[in-house]
Amino acid sequence: MTADLAARFPTDFRWSTATAAFQVEGARSEGGKGRSIWDEFVETPGRVLDGSTAEPGPDSYHRIDDDVRLLAELGVDSYRFSISWVRVQPDGQGPANPDGLDYYRRLVDALLEAGITPFPTLYHWDLPITLHREGGWLNRAIAERFADYTQLVAAALGDRVTDWYTLNEPVSTTLEGYAIGELAPGEALLFDALPTVHHQLLAHGRAVPILRAHGAERIGIVNNHTHVRPLHDTADDHRAVDAYDLIHNRLFADPLLTGRYPDLEAFGLPPMPVRSDDLAVISAPCDFYGVNFYNPTTVTAPPADSPIPFDLSATRGAEHTGFGEMWPIVPGALTALLVDFRDRYGPSLPPIVIGENGASFPEPATVEGTIDDRNRIHYLAGHVAAVADAIAAGVDVREYTVWSLLDNFEWAAGFSQRFGIVHVDQTTGTRTPKASYAWYRDLIAQARV
Ligand code: FCB
Repeated sequence: MTADLAARFPTDFRWSTATAAFQVEGARSEGGKGRSIWDEFVETPGRVLDGSTAEPGPDSYHRIDDDVRLLAELGVDSYRFSISWVRVQPDGQGPANPDGLDYYRRLVDALLEAGITPFPTLYHWDLPITLHREGGWLNRAIAERFADYTQLVAAALGDRVTDWYTLNEPVSTTLEGYAIGELAPGEALLFDALPTVHHQLLAHGRAVPILRAHGAERIGIVNNHTHVRPLHDTADDHRAVDAYDLIHNRLFADPLLTGRYPDLEAFGLPPMPVRSDDLAVISAPCDFYGVNFYNPTTVTAPPADSPIPFDLSATRGAEHTGFGEMWPIVPGALTALLVDFRDRYGPSLPPIVIGENGASFPEPATVEGTIDDRNRIHYLAGHVAAVADAIAAGVDVREYTVWSLLDNFEWAAGFSQRFGIVHVDQTTGTRTPKASYAWYRDLIAQARV
């Protein structure tokens, strides 16, 4: 019953839904847009599962009105979207491209007009290719480039945007973009990827005071976090849990929330390239901490000669999403993660915003009528209840965000995974709300009563 679920939330709890620029905008060379690592990645044969290029996709660049109408009818408090660095700075540095800023100004104004809080992310993975050629996130200078970019965006939008996410999921950029190469820029550097952690966190830290100087009221970073479990209840598997928890969770959350990196040496990892007051910059207080959650991770001890201190395993006994057995559906893991964070970081943990949560399931490319996506409703209801459980346990969670408003370009999986509560025909851009859209709309309406 959605009414019972809704009643578990305070009436001022905020409800949202999300997209990201490269995944929904299309229009890759319009309006003076430059090229990012994702443009290059999608053009490299074999990188994207179905060979798709994100074009035309939902074509949100040309469909502000359609998207805002869907958001308004849904009744969300805010909309999480991202700003494309290369629309604003086509070469990754230098003056702003007025057409790029204008697109985001129009989107923001349409949202405000509809009574929806614009909640943009400054960086959701589309790094300018020019900066990649200079080392990308491996090069410390990128933190200054990011500060310059932030300055341009804040100067243009700071009069109407007060809520900001800085970076999306630095852990995915480090692990999947630079360590194993499944996402752009497709580097397979293993532990040599670790400096990208520090440089992303530094970029976040540099952006915070710039946003504040332009009137921001709610600033935070959003990372992907997972609850890590042992396959077997053995000392070796528990050590693998500690290693994976360190790499996926603590490596990011500790410096942001405590001003210290965890003990990397204990797991044979190289030290971070920290200079003088970096950690003070990184740990400057924020207004919220963003958590994207999809699934728990089960690990086991690696073979004796492995350079990696854990092995990933399927989670036993759990159903899974369309992404397969490595995306198990375990809502209780979200509660466990949130409670762990509260216990681990105590008063250093600001209010939590769930920046993404959702699931893909196999669905047709075109629809007649609508899609009765009960499996997605089941996933979302389970995770919303898990958030309510965390709140009941005393964790301060303020906002929940469904990934995604729209079926969109799912990175290396192309258009093969559909996460939307609105179906999108990726060739015509036609939008058709699914049953989960109506479910979420009703939940939000009831939560306000
Ligand atoms: C997250 C990304 C988001 C989307 C979801 C499914 O890791 O931040 O863009 O692809 O996964």
